[in-house]
Amino acid sequence: MLKTHKGTILMTILTLSLALCTGGCSRATATPSPVPIPTSTSIPASQAADPFEQNRRLGRGVNLGNALEAPSEGEWGVTLREEYFQLIADAGFDAVRIPIRWSAHAASAPPYTIDPSFFERVDWAVNQALSRGLLAVVNVHHYEEIFQNPAQHRERLLALWEQIAGHYQDYPPDLLFEILNEPNTALTANVWNPLLADALRVVRRTNPDRNVVVSSTEWSGVHALGYLQLPDDDRHLIVTVHYYLPFQFTHQGAEWVSGSEPWLGTTWSGTPAEKQAVADDFERVAAWAEEHDRPVYLGEFGAYSKADLESRALWTDFIARQAEQRGFSWAYWEFCAGFGVYNPSTRQWNEPLLTALLPPNP
Ligand code: BGC
Repeated sequence: MLKTHKGTILMTILTLSLALCTGGCSRATATPSPVPIPTSTSIPASQAADPFEQNRRLGRGVNLGNALEAPSEGEWGVTLREEYFQLIADAGFDAVRIPIRWSAHAASAPPYTIDPSFFERVDWAVNQALSRGLLAVVNVHHYEEIFQNPAQHRERLLALWEQIAGHYQDYPPDLLFEILNEPNTALTANVWNPLLADALRVVRRTNPDRNVVVSSTEWSGVHALGYLQLPDDDRHLIVTVHYYLPFQFTHQGAEWVSGSEPWLGTTWSGTPAEKQAVADDFERVAAWAEEHDRPVYLGEFGAYSKADLESRALWTDFIARQAEQRGFSWAYWEFCAGFGVYNPSTRQWNEPLLTALLPPNP
């Protein structure tokens, strides 16, 4: 699979699975949730419908990566466990982003029915989050086929959203949808913008006020934000960007990034020039957001575990604070795999990373 990430040509190595999991993430049985499904009455709609207010509440989050967006859960070393949600809530995070590969669990022919048992598993994850007061973002992640051939997959994406939106229409506003993770390759802006508008129309039939996270093209890179066109009359949108720059630092030695081996040893010490580069990027995002009157969610940022921990912690702290200073909510990539802030083998947080994300005295 060819992956162009933030302007760099990359080869995705499909054997990334185990390598991404530092020390073998634990497997758990997918037991049905003991947690009752929340109803839309649990939070007054008015409280969360304002996208700026809800973005504030999205606050500081973490991605439950490498679990439900793997071809099948567990295949990339992470199986979600109830205790993870408790740990995340207890640590003080506000939200989880749950990447989901719906496309691997839906029929390939109309009406593209999503496997009910997969829905049950996602329900379980969503309920684990919401019942602990964590906001939850569910997305469509790793729909690789649509990046290669949008024309062939556009109806299927819309059908997935018709089902997902209908299924969760009575959930409280603290469940947010995200239309598509990191549109890229053949999903150029002129193809993506109209498809995004159509997907939003589908979602709005059943979820007129739910806040929906939307992204521009080019892997949600900050430089592609200018290409994003949103329906003016849809005010329940939160715009997301991802940040992995400098890429040679954050993706050094990443098995799925061809040519990343020579980057090993790249450090980030927060020199004035390094900080300025980040600040300039974030300032551009803030200017776009101001001009378009949209809240911003930094939905992914992180540095791979092959970088030295001191640099990772410095970079992570700087990125999170830069986001916060501009009123962006954020979600670290990710919880317990190759970028992990938590080590499921030792059952311990990576303290320097956790402190960088949630400093005791922010
Ligand atoms: C991808 C992951 C990847 C991460 C960092 C995410 O958007 O879905 O597979 O590990 O970016 O490259």
